[in-house]
Amino acid sequence: MKVLFATSEAHPLAKTGGLADVSGALPAALQDVGVDARILMPGYPSALEKAENLSRVFRIDLPNHGETALLRGTFPGLGFPVYLIEHAGYYQREGLYQDKNTQDWQDNALRFGLLSQFAAWMSGPKSPVNFTPDILHCNDWQTGLAPAYLHFEEATPIPSVFTIHNIAYQGIFSPEVIAKLGLPKESFSVDGLEYYGNLSFLKAGLNYATRITTVSPNYAKEIQTEAFGMGFQGLLSARKSVLHGILNGIDTREWNPATDPHLYTPYSFENLAGKSSNKLSLQGELGMQCNAKTPLLGMVSRMAHQKGSDVVIEAAPKLLQMGAQLVVLGNGEQKLEAAWRKLANANPGQVAVFIGYDEGLAHRIEAGADMFLMPSRFEPCGLNQMYSLRYGTIPVVTRVGGLADTVIHASQENLNQGKANGFVIDHLDKNALAETINRALILFRHKLAWQKLMTNGMKKDFGWGKSAHQYLDLYREMLKVS
Ligand code: ADP
Ligand code: GLC
Repeated sequence: MKVLFATSEAHPLAKTGGLADVSGALPAALQDVGVDARILMPGYPSALEKAENLSRVFRIDLPNHGETALLRGTFPGLGFPVYLIEHAGYYQREGLYQDKNTQDWQDNALRFGLLSQFAAWMSGPKSPVNFTPDILHCNDWQTGLAPAYLHFEEATPIPSVFTIHNIAYQGIFSPEVIAKLGLPKESFSVDGLEYYGNLSFLKAGLNYATRITTVSPNYAKEIQTEAFGMGFQGLLSARKSVLHGILNGIDTREWNPATDPHLYTPYSFENLAGKSSNKLSLQGELGMQCNAKTPLLGMVSRMAHQKGSDVVIEAAPKLLQMGAQLVVLGNGEQKLEAAWRKLANANPGQVAVFIGYDEGLAHRIEAGADMFLMPSRFEPCGLNQMYSLRYGTIPVVTRVGGLADTVIHASQENLNQGKANGFVIDHLDKNALAETINRALILFRHKLAWQKLMTNGMKKDFGWGKSAHQYLDLYREMLKVS
C-alpha cells in the first residue's frame, strides 16, 4: 500500500498548530502498519533546513508559477521519504500562511494551488517521480484542489481521502485565480469549486475526494449541523455515507513525561513526585510564588476566537480570587494578545503570559500545571487535552468535538465508577467556566481523589496505533482489498 500524504505543515519541519503534529506522526504510524506513506509539502526555509538527505529530483518552468523544483529527502530521525516543493517566490519567507502582522499572504491561492497541483501530478500516470501511490491523502484546504485536479485532468484518477482538520479555514479566493491555477472554467459551478461567488479550496476537497474524514467521531457528526458546519453542513450531510470520524492520536515519543527532554524532572504515574518538582521549577521560571499547594492553571494555544481564551480573560478575576495562578502561552489575534498582556501586567506574580511560540515552554506548562484550560467554542479534535491527560494535568474543556470524545467529566457518577479524567463544561460562558474550576479546586484539595483523576488520564493509551489501523482499513476498503 502506497500513500502520498499531502500537507501544508508537518512537525518538526514546519508548524503552526495541530495539523503539523498529525502530519508528522500519522505517516510514521502508517509506516509501522506496513504502509509506504510519503509526505509532500512546501519547501519552507525551516523544512529545507530540517529535512535530511535532500537532493533535487527535477526542475521545471511551469507556465503559471515559474521556476519550480522538487526535492526528495528523509523525515528527520525517522528516515521515511519526504518530498519538498522548492519555489523561491512562494515559500522562501517567514510565516507559513501569514506575514508578521497576521495578514494572510496575498498569493496563498497560488502557493497552495501549486502544492495541490503537485499532489495530483505525483498521483497520476505522468508522475515525475518514481513512486506511484495507490491513494492520495489530502489535509485541509491547502491541499483541497488536489482531488479537483485529479478529477479534471485524469481519465481514471486514483482514489483520494480529504481530511478536515478544521472546517473554519475554507481557502476562499476570488474566482479570477481559477485561470491562473490552470483549472477549467466549468470547474467554477455550484457542484464544483464555486462558493457564494468565490472559489473555495475546501469545497473542492469535499466535493471531489473519494472519501472525507475528520479528526474525531463527534466532530464528524457536528459538522453536519448548522451550528458547526460553517456553511458546509448541507454538502457534508449529502456526502455522509463517505464521511468518517477517526480520532487523532498523539506522538507518545515526543509527549512522554518520563523521557521529555524539555522538563526539569522526568516523571510517570508511578512517580508523581516528579510532577510536583516540575511545578515548583515552572513557578520559579515564571517569577511566581513557588508553592505546591497553589493551583496552577495552564493554557497553550493559538489565540483565536475558536479557543475561547477571551472567556478565560473574562473569568480571570474570579479565578484569581479563588487563589489560582495562571500561565498562558500563545500567539495570534492582536486584540487577544493585548488583553492577555494587560491582565499579566495588572497581576504580576499571579498571571504569567508569553506571547509567542515556544515548544519547550509548551512542554513545561503541560508538565508543571495542575489543570489545563481548553474552553474551545469548537474543536475538531484537539491535541493539548490529550497531552494534558498523559502528563497528569487535569483538562478543563467544553463538550465539543474531540474534547467530548476524550475527556470524561468528573461527575459524581463517573468519579464513583473510577473513570473520570477531567472536567467538561456544557455551555461556555465566564460563570460556567469559573464554577467548573471552583468545583475542580474542591477536588484538588483532596490529594488522593485528585491523584486518581490524574492517573486515569496518564494510564490511557492515546498513541497513534489504533487510528493508523483505522486509516489502513479505510484505504483497504477504498481499494477493495482485504
Ligand atoms: P490547533 O491545531 O487548533 O491549534 P491542537 O490542540 O490540535 O489545536 O494543537 C495545537 C498544537 O500547537 C499543540 O501541539 C500545541 O502545543 C501547539 N501550540 C499552539 N500554540 C503554541 C505556542 N504558542 N507555543 C508552542 N506550542 C504551541
Ligand atoms: C486543527 C484543529 C484541532 C486538531 C488539529 C489536528 O488545527 O483545530 O482540533 O486537533 O487540527 O487534526
